[in-house]
Amino acid sequence: MSVQAVNASTVTRTANRFKVRKLGDALGAEVLGVDMRHRLDPAAYQELHDIWMEHLVLVFPEQHVDDQQHVEFTRSFGEPEIFHQDIIRSKRVREIFRVSNVDEEGTLMPPDHPTARQVSLAQFWHTDSSYRAVPCTGALLHGIEVSRTGGETQFTNMYAVYDALPGALKKQVEGRRALHDFEFLQKQNKLKPLTDAERAAMPPVWQPMVRKHPVTGRKSLYISPIYNEDVQGMPRDEARALIAELAAFAGRPQFVYSHRWETDDVVLWDNRCTMHQVTSFEPTERRVMHRTTIVGDQPVIAG
Ligand code: OGA
Ligand code: MN
Repeated sequence: MSVQAVNASTVTRTANRFKVRKLGDALGAEVLGVDMRHRLDPAAYQELHDIWMEHLVLVFPEQHVDDQQHVEFTRSFGEPEIFHQDIIRSKRVREIFRVSNVDEEGTLMPPDHPTARQVSLAQFWHTDSSYRAVPCTGALLHGIEVSRTGGETQFTNMYAVYDALPGALKKQVEGRRALHDFEFLQKQNKLKPLTDAERAAMPPVWQPMVRKHPVTGRKSLYISPIYNEDVQGMPRDEARALIAELAAFAGRPQFVYSHRWETDDVVLWDNRCTMHQVTSFEPTERRVMHRTTIVGDQPVIAG
């Protein structure tokens, strides 16, 4: 067989592998043909990765996976992150980050439980692990017990947000850095203080407010309002006001896709060019979501 014939047949096979349906104008697509019980082979990975870069957020329905399979599938994309705080990290599978108001023994936590309180701060716009010197690439969230009273996960397209920023706001973020501090979350919300080891593991970092995506080359706004305590060269109250204004702009409906979960949906998102938040839900309702996080492969590139 000639090289050309081999290439042609490969293209035909990979082109038919997945079925893609756009979920909104801003971002998001449903992808059929993924079976997370198996690692992706290189050709499948390449095709899925291209789809991911195009749509930013992918929904894989009907994934009947356990935590170990979820972690193994994540390895197709990179190394799974191990979260630094034991009130969130699963005791059973340490690569699992528990976004849950139910403890690992299966008991619903009261809303004022320290873990439940920390998890509920995902109700504000953020992008994951932006407080690391090398933030994660993306994350895969598995809906195990999903909400019927709210609990939708909303994603915003930060490329589109950057492109649409009014001139005055754009001028304020160009060439600037914002401070991302995990502990800001604890301090602001009077959460359980970090242990010395947790604090030492996660010193605050200055990240560019405009970043260039290493794969697509596109520029996006890069903020993570729940962690942004300061903006370079600004008094703190002005910095917080700027972050709040940017967050409100980014949350406009034209930039957002809101996901209503079905059990065993798995959602993959790119933390380099999106933010997310969860809508509120009845605290008497159980909500159990397990996340894996893909360790980043390089520091943020200023855009
Ligand atoms: C997360 C997160 C929101 C949700 O998993 O990183 O913020 O909908 N989750 O649970
Ligand atoms: Mn999050």
